[in-house]
Amino acid sequence: MATKTQHFGPSSTFITLFLVLLLHIHYAKSDLKLNYYSESCPRAEEIIKEQVNKLYHKHGNTAVSWIRNLFHDCMVKSCDASILLDKTKEQTSEKTSQRNFGMRNFKYIETIKEALENECPNIVSCADIVALSARDGIVMLGGPQIEIKTGRWDSKDSYLAEVESFLPNHNDSMSLVLSRFNSVGVDTQGTVALLGAHTVGRVHCVNIVHRLYPTVDPTLDPDFANYLKTRCPSPQPDPKAVEYARNDHINPMVWDNLYYKNIMSNKGLLIVDQQLVSDPTTYPFVEKFAANNSYFNDQFAKSLIILSENNPLSGDQGEIRKVCRHVNK
Ligand code: HEM
Ligand SMILES: *[C@@H]1O[C@H](CO)[C@@H](O)[C@H](O)[C@H]1NC(C)=O
Ligand SMILES: *[C@@H]1O[C@H](CO)[C@@H](O)[C@H](O)[C@H]1NC(C)=O
Repeated sequence: MATKTQHFGPSSTFITLFLVLLLHIHYAKSDLKLNYYSESCPRAEEIIKEQVNKLYHKHGNTAVSWIRNLFHDCMVKSCDASILLDKTKEQTSEKTSQRNFGMRNFKYIETIKEALENECPNIVSCADIVALSARDGIVMLGGPQIEIKTGRWDSKDSYLAEVESFLPNHNDSMSLVLSRFNSVGVDTQGTVALLGAHTVGRVHCVNIVHRLYPTVDPTLDPDFANYLKTRCPSPQPDPKAVEYARNDHINPMVWDNLYYKNIMSNKGLLIVDQQLVSDPTTYPFVEKFAANNSYFNDQFAKSLIILSENNPLSGDQGEIRKVCRHVNK
């Protein structure tokens, strides 16, 4: 026995060290938890939900914006509210990137933040507002209730220079899109599910006209192309003009799996949307989601959770912003 123990000694020490290291990495990545504010600000999640509901009833499209916010914040390095920072003399802003064109309703994030500051100042991060408002917005639109953890910290910087190396473009190849999502832990099925968020909201004509003029993209349904031409009559739309088409022109403000049925009949707005159908690695999931709305919702929820937990900052790397659009003085 004694020799056996000695014999296994070094390797079990190695295994123990390895496990300790693994656990350490695991814990370092899991500072987030459900109901992180249960003691520090017990009504935090309720306040956010109340505000999201109120805003939705005044401006329905706020709920849509919150969903895009989560994607554009979390995909770029970390879910750290870097997307919310305004441009100042000292500070660049991700909002000025072409990839973030069309994002809206940022001022109402401050409405939510103010409600939280009134109840418990300096406690709830803007990054958690981004995550929870997306969760509650999805519910307002008729989507699934998703369990989102909290405990994110806010960045002290924006990453304008890096936006394009993380966020895919509307016309990127599917292999590039899949590799971007893969790098945040979302697999092929998860990517197809997340793009289902395009069941709500709008796309400006600048992101569509290259599929209509000078010749119509042959992967577009011809009647749908004619409809899009009525929405976007000019090959060179003024980027400041509010010309857009609806992501899902039948019920653009309802969370459902119609997006997949639309792209299966060649009625996708963006090249990436349509590529989900033409790419043989993604198409089987399009079919599955089109056939089963609950299955879509389950897979969407699973992937949104992964995305929402991308690289959370710990306290020493970030801060709790007082106002979401600028770093603390
Ligand atoms: C390859 C990935 C993606 C690309 C290239 C992409 C691109 C775009 C583009 C170009 C628009 C239209 C912007 C405009 O013209 O106003 C848009 C809208 C939108 N996207 Fe995505 N998107 C992607 C994935 C996602 C994901 C994963 C989500 C959320 C989970 C999302 C949520 C939204 C929402 C909600 C809108 C509508 C926004 C509004 O109406 O204000 N997108 N997206
Ligand atoms: C994609 O669209 C952008 C404009 O948004 C354009 O500058 C670029 O050339 C396009 N890329 C391809 C591969 O078509
Ligand atoms: C649809 O998906 C749900 C949830 O994943 C599953 O429980 C159900 O069996 C599926 N229905 C069909 C008809 O496949």
